[in-house]
Order: sequence, then C-alpha cells, then structure tokens
Amino acid sequence: MEVVIVKDATAGGELIADGIAGLLRRKPDALLGVATGSTPLPIYDALTAKVRAGAVDVSRARIAQLDEYVGLPAGHPESYRATVLRQVVEPLGLSAEAFMGPDGSAEDVQAACEAYDKALVDAGGVDLQILGIGTDGHIGFNEPCSSLASRTRIKTLTEQTRVDNARFFDNDIEQVPHHVITQGIGTILEARHLVLLATGEGKAEAVAQTVEGPVAALVPASALQLHPHATVVVDEAAASKLK
Ligand code: F6R
Repeated sequence: MEVVIVKDATAGGELIADGIAGLLRRKPDALLGVATGSTPLPIYDALTAKVRAGAVDVSRARIAQLDEYVGLPAGHPESYRATVLRQVVEPLGLSAEAFMGPDGSAEDVQAACEAYDKALVDAGGVDLQILGIGTDGHIGFNEPCSSLASRTRIKTLTEQTRVDNARFFDNDIEQVPHHVITQGIGTILEARHLVLLATGEGKAEAVAQTVEGPVAALVPASALQLHPHATVVVDEAAASKLK
C-alpha cells in the first residue's frame, strides 16, 4: 500500500485527477469506479477542469457506481445514481449510457446485486476505483464486520453512518434510508487500482487503523492492505494519527 500525504483536499483531488488523466491516456475507455459523499468532490472538480481545459479526453470513459440506497423513490436527488450523474457524468460531458450502477429500486434486490457484480465483470472490471472512508472505517457501505470476501449485496446502515449522512437529507435522520446496496469488499478488491482519499481530522483514526492496524473485518478499509495496487491519499489532518 502506498500512502501519499498532501497539504489539503484540493491537492489530493488534483493528484488523483492527474492519475485518472494518465490512465485515460493509456486506456481511453477505462472503467472508473466512483464513490459518493463529500470527500471525492475535489477529484471530480479537478478532473472536470482538466476536461474543460482540453488536457484530457474522457469521451470514451465509463463510470461505475459503488453503492446505492435502497427504497428511495426513482429520481430522488440524493439517490446515488442521481448524485453520480450530477457530480461526475454530466460535468464530464458523458452520456448516461456510459454509466452503470446497481438498481436500488428493484423488487428483487438480491437479483439486482448479483446482476451488478456480473455487469462489472462483463464490462471488463473496474480499472481505477475511487474510495472514501467512513469515520468507522467503512468503504462503500461495507460497515464494520463485513466479510472481507463479500460480494455486492444489501446491507443495513449503522446508526453512525445514518447520522453522518443526514446532512444530505435536510439534517433529518428519519429521511435517511436504512438499507443500501454496496459492492462487497471482495468485489472492490477486484478493481485493478484502488485509490482512497481521506481528508479532515475526523478521518484520522480510521486512516491510522486502515494503514497501520491489522487487516480486520472491524475496519473494512484495512482490506486495502491485501491489494497489490492500493494508494491512500490523505491530507495532513487525516494523516495526524499515523505514526
Ligand atoms: C459512498 C461511499 C462511502 C463514503 C464514506 C465517506 O459512496 O463510498 O463509503 O465514501 O461514507 O463519506 P464522506 O466522503 O462524505 O465523508
């Protein structure tokens, strides 16, 4: 695992966007796995700026979602499908056809999970997966104690994650769904390159456990230690508990 400490979130976004631009030069139709939440926004902003400046051609890139709420009405602005379309697909000038994600409104959620795992394989696999990290060490929505071999499946959010995400739902925890579909840790580990960005002091403990603790289901992000090509980009605040 490679750990890169940068000054702040903007620098982290720039660094990772540079890496994505390099990948797209080598492989123009690369499949990029994207996380939602606040942390990756500087990456998407930096990549969009490069596209607008003509520094990188993303026209053949493909985008894959990491996770999705279950049970939000179709088109809900906080569904992760709507969020990724708004924050990544549209700013990059891609069409919705370039984008794939699990169906959080499927009647048979289990079948939707299996279909998504298969769709990722059929698409040739994720080339670069962007990850954030929860304050409890989750990646995607693989909460503590998730199997390190898990596949895409339905999960129940912890109270802490629902509290953390209430800010996207008018600060009203009642509106935050209880269930999500998430790529499993085993699924995530199949991406060719994992890039985790963590910023802010609130992530410092989770980062320390991810990087310096044992590989353990209690800290799902620690599974990155098992991956042959994992990069953890942290700002100085998120790095503050590293030894
Ligand atoms: C969401 C996801 C989550 C977030 C994590 C951190 O797609 O993958 O694991 O990355 O909850 O969220 P932020 O970045 O909002 O602190």
